[in-house]
Amino acid sequence: MNPDPQPLLRLGRSPALRGVCRVPGDKSISHRALLFGALCQGTVEIRGLGLGGDNASTAAALRALGVSVQISGASARVEGVGFAGLRAAAAALDCGNSGTTMRLFCGLLAGRPFTSTLSGDPSLSRRPMGRVAKPLRLMGARIEGHVDPARPQGILPPLVIRGGNLRGIDYVLPVASAQLKSALVLAGLQAAGKTRIEEPGLSRDHTERMLRFLGAPISAEPGGRRILVDPSGWNGVLAPAPVDVPGDLSSAAFLLVAAAIVPGSDVTIENVGLNPTRTGVLDALRAMAADIESTQTAEAMGEPVGRVRVRCAGRLRAARIAGALALRSIDEIPALAIAAALAEGRSEFADVGELRVKESDRIASITRELRRAGIAVEESSEGFTVTGSAGRPPKGGQVSPDRDHRIAMASAVLGLLAEEETLVPSDDIATSFPTFAEILRSLGADVSER
Ligand code: S3P
Repeated sequence: MNPDPQPLLRLGRSPALRGVCRVPGDKSISHRALLFGALCQGTVEIRGLGLGGDNASTAAALRALGVSVQISGASARVEGVGFAGLRAAAAALDCGNSGTTMRLFCGLLAGRPFTSTLSGDPSLSRRPMGRVAKPLRLMGARIEGHVDPARPQGILPPLVIRGGNLRGIDYVLPVASAQLKSALVLAGLQAAGKTRIEEPGLSRDHTERMLRFLGAPISAEPGGRRILVDPSGWNGVLAPAPVDVPGDLSSAAFLLVAAAIVPGSDVTIENVGLNPTRTGVLDALRAMAADIESTQTAEAMGEPVGRVRVRCAGRLRAARIAGALALRSIDEIPALAIAAALAEGRSEFADVGELRVKESDRIASITRELRRAGIAVEESSEGFTVTGSAGRPPKGGQVSPDRDHRIAMASAVLGLLAEEETLVPSDDIATSFPTFAEILRSLGADVSER
């Protein structure tokens, strides 16, 4: 009996996972395809669009600004209107659970000569927005929000943005963040003068790749940590082009970890994005002695795409995930923590303080779930350690993922090795990977819906 009205996934100890599969379109690239599609002058056809709730929030926000976005399964048609064609929305733009929607729209709307309100669900309403408001205010936008009790000068959603008349700035980001960087790029394209952005580390660079492809005046130095947006002499037009979104490596990560820890597994994921700013998960799993082959087979709009095969090669060994490797696998740390939980030795996840301000406080939520499963963990402000069970099965039981899709999926993967059944509240999984259970089952996992 499920006393809670939330649907549950039930996972049991599973036999070897085997097969070839694809995962839904990359969430980060899908946001950008929809948004930059709206900024083109003409029709943009998107194939392989992400199917999750976050991407639906971006599509709905664009519609509220007067853009026609038609979605049918994984195909979308966006009638681009350019920056100048956007119209003030009649009500607050609901960004749902999606930090990317809120922060990218902050940059977009900071440059528009009208007032907009951005709101979100309870999780998004706790996430820091001062980091994006501060530089946009320096560019001339007026942005107000709720006072953030946790951070001096911080603000929280809902945000009210009075945009227009921006000027370019030189800005060093306080944290490496693709959402923040992308917001400043979108504002910079609408500003007078140049905008120079420097990141302390290289975060995912999908914005730079896609905007350059569409003809935006943006350049990055090799290595990408410094970006220049120079709209002087630009006619303001992005040229429409069809977009093929590769599969989401961040979704694939859960299947890769599952295959690396369930004995006898051999899983191949095809058509998945292999952008080097995102492939930290593959390097981290290799450092843990997983047997992984990745092969680039194509390129789509400057994004490498390919196939990844993982075979369970016996026991994993502990690793240290820190610095640039942690940044390149930031969304995959919950999945990697599960690999560490089965490994031999003590793994360390360092320089991952940003996890505290994701959809949940992921350091707190993943360490709590690992502890519940009988795994020894230690938590610090900027990271955590996991002492692997060296193959001893974890405990099953009822998972409390704090309504965070990645914590739910990570806990589900751990459940594939538990002796008792594992129950995971499942409706938040649809934020990024609505077909998670179906694909896991097609590979042979013992997964059912309750
Ligand atoms: C994202 C950037 C990252 C990442 C998030 C998606 C993006 O966040 O964690 O899931 O699409 O730009 P930050 O910009 O906060 O690092």
